[in-house]
Amino acid sequence: MVNRRIEKGVKRGKRFEIEVDGEKLVAYEGETVAAVIVAAGRRTFRWTEKKKHPRGMYCGIGLCHECMMVIDGVPNTKACQTVATPGCQVKTQRGLESQVPKVSKVDGFVRSRHPGENRGPDIL
Ligand code: FES
Repeated sequence: MVNRRIEKGVKRGKRFEIEVDGEKLVAYEGETVAAVIVAAGRRTFRWTEKKKHPRGMYCGIGLCHECMMVIDGVPNTKACQTVATPGCQVKTQRGLESQVPKVSKVDGFVRSRHPGENRGPDIL
């Protein structure tokens, strides 16, 4: 595993591990999931829905949505805004992930593309 952290003169919190796509990565108390991943030399956080392009951390402050990952089973979680916790399970996100309902307008209603899961306009 690569370690891109500055080692000299930096005091860190408690050391623990998180799991990213099955790989154990070293994390320190107070670090975000994105910081842990970048420190380990990984660059791809998600793959785009249509063109399957890789995306990585861009703004680092929660504005761009490029760092969305599946964190502890929750898709579309911004890794740069999520503090790593011991045992945290992280997956590279592929598209929007199936847990997010894909909606389209049909007859004035917003309907999910998942059978049997229609939603009214109140979710807009
Ligand atoms: S890197 Fe931009 S929102 Fe996380």
